Amino acid sequence: MKYSDNCTVVDHPLVKHKLTQMRRKDTSTAEFRALLQEISLLLGYEATRDLKLTDEPIETPLAKMDAPVLEGKKLVLVAILRAGQGILDGMLQLVPSARVGHIGLYRDPKTLMAVEYYYKVPNQLADRDVIVCDPMLATGNSAVAALNRIKRSKPGSLRFVCLLACPEGLANLREHHPDVHVITAAVDEKLDEHGYILPGLGDAGDRLFGTR
Ligand code: URA
Repeated sequence: MKYSDNCTVVDHPLVKHKLTQMRRKDTSTAEFRALLQEISLLLGYEATRDLKLTDEPIETPLAKMDAPVLEGKKLVLVAILRAGQGILDGMLQLVPSARVGHIGLYRDPKTLMAVEYYYKVPNQLADRDVIVCDPMLATGNSAVAALNRIKRSKPGSLRFVCLLACPEGLANLREHHPDVHVITAAVDEKLDEHGYILPGLGDAGDRLFGTR
């Protein structure tokens, strides 16, 4: 479902149900991790909808045919550390041949601005389709910083997959990266004064890794 010109909300009963389980404060770390992986498969299905295909001659046990295969260079998935790893695990089940990058960003608790501490992505990003993964599009500052950094390598296309977004984060992304489409499970109401999404699900990294 199109939420706005830069955002698609994946409107599916399984996505809604799994997200509700993830939001519950009593959901265990193991359940949260499994649910994030499952939901990421469904988000990834939508995020890869536009991948280009080309026909290749193959032989089935019965006949020859031209059959569609993914065209061109391998997809690149980039996880924003640390919670992006949870989405990456699900997406890799869907596209096991994807190349993988990581960007380490932490949020300065006073300014809420993103500070980079790690950057390792495949060398050849030029012309490749890149999907950036981070569960929470909150202020959008980490997403903007990650996309700024990746754009230096001139990728062919860029998409952003998250579990939850909010209007503030989407507006920030639209202002700085209007060309990047966001695929999410839901758009929540607003940010609180600490930059957390409300009603949200709390700190996605803590819930994923049990560091609460
Ligand atoms: N990061 C999180 O983990 N949760 C939020 O609500 C916002 C940012």
